[in-house]
Parts: sequence; structure tokens; C-alpha cells
Amino acid sequence: MHDQPPPLAERIALVTGANSGLGRAVVGALAGQGATVLMVCRDATRGEDARHEIMAATGNPQVHLFVADLASQAAIRGLAARVRERFDRLHLLINNAGTAFPARRLSPDGIEMALAVNHLAPFLLTNLLLEPLRTAAPARIVNVGTRINTAMDFHDLNWERRPYRLMQAYGQSKLGNLHFTFELARRLAGSGVTVNCCFPGVFRSNLGGTDGAQGWFWRTVALLLGWALPTPEQAARGVLYLATDPAMAGVTGGYYSHRKPIPAPVQTQDPAANQRLWAISADLTRLT
Ligand SMILES: NC(=O)c1ccc[n+]([C@@H]2O[C@H](COP(=O)([O-])OP(=O)(O)OC[C@H]3O[C@@H](n4cnc5c(N)ncnc54)[C@H](OP(=O)(O)O)[C@@H]3O)[C@@H](O)[C@H]2O)c1
Repeated sequence: MHDQPPPLAERIALVTGANSGLGRAVVGALAGQGATVLMVCRDATRGEDARHEIMAATGNPQVHLFVADLASQAAIRGLAARVRERFDRLHLLINNAGTAFPARRLSPDGIEMALAVNHLAPFLLTNLLLEPLRTAAPARIVNVGTRINTAMDFHDLNWERRPYRLMQAYGQSKLGNLHFTFELARRLAGSGVTVNCCFPGVFRSNLGGTDGAQGWFWRTVALLLGWALPTPEQAARGVLYLATDPAMAGVTGGYYSHRKPIPAPVQTQDPAANQRLWAISADLTRLT
């Protein structure tokens, strides 16, 4: 049995992609309730600006910035080491950072960028932070996924043999979030650390904007129709439900949207496929 979690004001949460969109809204809500929040951002200026605005809006000084480009495995290892150095426990890990690319690009580790940032980064970071999560148990991990899920091509994960398509590459990498969630839940059974995946719905976003994936067409659509979409703050409610609601205590291995379980794509319901991607991911990230 694991104890009740401490009040939110005594909990420590780490949120990736924390300077904008959904991640920033989640940080604002957690900081507003007094939690200590570790913001992971790739750009120091954007991160510092967001951190100061959130501290001013919430009056919570316990908002910390960790700068790391999640495309780089060396940066992820450095990030995890710095977090572990300063915090021996972590109650919440929210793997939110995500992006898309207009053309195939390779990470510093030679991996297609959507796969590197959207799937391998949360895979590696989570594994490197399991110790402080286990120490803090009951602890929760929330992976932010999507419903654009393209089947995993295990023979060409790195997009070497097919023409690169933005949405397919994005969808394949985000399907990885579900394979990862289900296999991690199996591995963490009984540890007091739960993991669930959240589809936050479609909302106003800068997704892929920094990486050039938003061409003029989508920018115009966003400008004209953006007002009709939910705000990141509205979308954040589903993530916060999985991360903090007492109703989710002990619940693990689920896929949720708007606080309700939703069916996972059939290929992620196959434990062998989940274990297969885990083994490939461990190999690609040299996780021992
Ligand atoms: N928007 C939607 O309708 C929607 C729907 C379903 C799921 N989602 C998911 O929701 C999550 C958040 O997306 P959003 O819409 O809020 O987009 P967003 O506003 O662009 O936020 C994404 C965040 O991830 C960060 N990021 C991107 N690449 C990174 C890297 N290499 N290293 C570190 N951080 C990096 C971005 O940093 P920069 O500011 O430096 O670029 C930004 O802070 C994503 O996982 C996305 O797949 C979004």
C-alpha cells in the first residue's frame, strides 16, 4: 500500500514544453494551487519569460526553469541529472512537449525528429526519472498524446524508405506515446507510480510553429478559425484531471479524453507490439 499523496502545495511536478500552449496552461494551474513546478523548455528566453509571467500571475515563487532541447539525448540525460541533483522526489511528470516537421530532419542522434522529440524524449526522460517518482509514490505520469495515430512501421521507424509525410510522421510518433504508456504501466504495476495517456482534444496552438511545420495555409486557418477552438487552459483540464484528481488515484494504463476513457488504437492493445517498441526505443536511446 502507498500512502495518500501530500497536498498539491507539497507536491513537485515536472512539465515539458512548458513555455507555450497546453504545457504553459498546466504549469499555470499547478503553480496556482501552490505546487513546486519544474518547467522544461528548449529556449532560455522563452522559458524565463513564461516563468516570470506565471510566478507573477500565481504569486508562487516555486517555479523553476530547466533548459533542454528534447531532440538531443545528451541534453535529456543532462536534464535528468540536474533534476535529480536538486529534487530527490517527483510526484508528477507531464510529458507534454510535442512538435511536427514539414520535411524529414535528423536529430543530433541521427533519428527522425518527430520520433526523437515526440516519442523517444518522453521514453528516455521518464526512464531516467523513475527513481524520484518511485521515491515520491504515489506519483503519476501523464503522457500527452493525440488521436492522429498512424500505425507504427516497425521496418522504417526512421523514415528512410518512404516519402516523408508530416501528418504520418507526427501520427506515428504520437502513437508511440500510447505503446509507451501501456508497456510502462505494465512495468510499474504495484510501484505506486501510475501512467496514463491524455488526448486533450483539438485546441488553439502553436504546434510545430517554431519548427516551421505551420505553413501559410495553416497559419491563415488558425487566424480565421482559432477563436472557435478551445483555449489551452480549457484543454488543460483533461490533463490536470489525470494528474491530480483523487478519482484517478491508482488508475493506470488508460487512454483518456475530457476525463473519460476512450478506446486505444487496436495495434496498441497488443502487448507484444508495445514490448517491441519498448525494446527498439531502449536500443535507440542506449538505455541500459
Ligand atoms: N494543439 C492541439 O490541437 C493538440 C491536439 C492533440 C494533442 N496535442 C499535443 O499537445 C501537446 C502540446 O502541444 P501544443 O498544442 O500546446 O503546442 P505548442 O504550443 O507548440 O507547445 C509545444 C511545446 O513543446 C515545446 N517543444 C517542441 N520541441 C521541443 C524540443 N525539441 N525540446 C523541448 N521542447 C520542445 C515547444 O517549445 P517552443 O515554444 O520552443 O517551440 C512548446 O513549449 C503536444 O504533445 C501535442 O502533440 C495538441
